[in-house]
Amino acid sequence: MQVLVTGGTGFLGGHLCSELARAGHSVAALGSKNADLTRPHSLEPWDITRFDQIWHLAAWTQAGDFCLRHPGEQWIINQQINTNVLTWWQRVQPQAKLICIGTSCSYDPRIELTEDHYLIGQPIDGLYTYAMTKRMLQIGLLALNEQYGFRYLTLVPSTLYGPGYHTDGRQMHFIFDLIRKILRGKHRGEPVVLWGDGYQKREVVYVGDFTRVAVQLAETLDNDLVNLGAGEEFTIREFAKLICDRVGYDVGAVDFDTTRYVGAKSKCLSVDKLRRLLPDMKVTPLGDGLSDTIDWFRRNSAF
Ligand SMILES: NC(=O)c1ccc[n+]([C@@H]2O[C@H](COP(=O)([O-])OP(=O)(O)OC[C@H]3O[C@@H](n4cnc5c(N)ncnc54)[C@H](OP(=O)(O)O)[C@@H]3O)[C@@H](O)[C@H]2O)c1
Repeated sequence: MQVLVTGGTGFLGGHLCSELARAGHSVAALGSKNADLTRPHSLEPWDITRFDQIWHLAAWTQAGDFCLRHPGEQWIINQQINTNVLTWWQRVQPQAKLICIGTSCSYDPRIELTEDHYLIGQPIDGLYTYAMTKRMLQIGLLALNEQYGFRYLTLVPSTLYGPGYHTDGRQMHFIFDLIRKILRGKHRGEPVVLWGDGYQKREVVYVGDFTRVAVQLAETLDNDLVNLGAGEEFTIREFAKLICDRVGYDVGAVDFDTTRYVGAKSKCLSVDKLRRLLPDMKVTPLGDGLSDTIDWFRRNSAF
């Protein structure tokens, strides 16, 4: 198949492009350098190819309190990116299936995180704009499907983790931040201070599991939205303990700063639908995934 991936230079994009290539597909990986999607005609160089799948991963965001500090820019940039991709799909690539990556942030954390609730209720304040631009992307998919019969799929991951993360100093997703802080505590003697009281719960999904299952689902599933997570959440203290055990750092030396922004208290995707679709799905055990990620940090001196 001919496959185009926006956001192909990012953390998830790199893993996804490798997975698609392993599956035998011809992959065009795009980043902001070869196609700045805020510009309306940036996709023209790819007009000539009839793509079977377009994976739309590109988004302007970072972890931590980034969304809290950039709501205006995020609205403008992400709406531009999404509108330009959907416009190109409509005008030039109507035969392609468009596969978009949603976010667990789009859910209202006060109601169950089941797929039928993706567009219902209110996302939390600090992530509101980012969450709503992802919801608007979903509305775009529904609208183009309704009017033209175009095929789409939305996959909603929980926080992704694994090797190959950013090393450019941007704000890290909590799981990478935890690993980096604990490695710095171990190797540089820096104090390890984690945000919040440590009782907030999070779910993570190993990036290799996500891409493998995503590619599999995209082959057969049309016009649907599916949560793709591990289905189990842990407190930050539990994550810290697992990491400390692997790094060889005393978990008792870890401190908590309750004045810092922590976002939702709990965020665990319902994976009932995923289990119905793929009853035999296996995920990488958390301890193994953390060991791989810690090894990657060490190999790349990323702490
Ligand atoms: N990581 C997670 O845990 C997670 C969880 C839920 C959902 N997601 C979603 O998954 C997708 C990928 O996430 P990620 O973690 O891989 O993010 P990432 O590493 O930050 O990658 C973002 C990608 O978007 C591209 N991009 C940004 N602005 C662009 C622009 N103006 N024009 C073209 N491309 C642009 C970047 O290109 P350059 O690098 O070349 O600038 C990069 O390839 C995003 O849609 C994100 O919302 C991620």
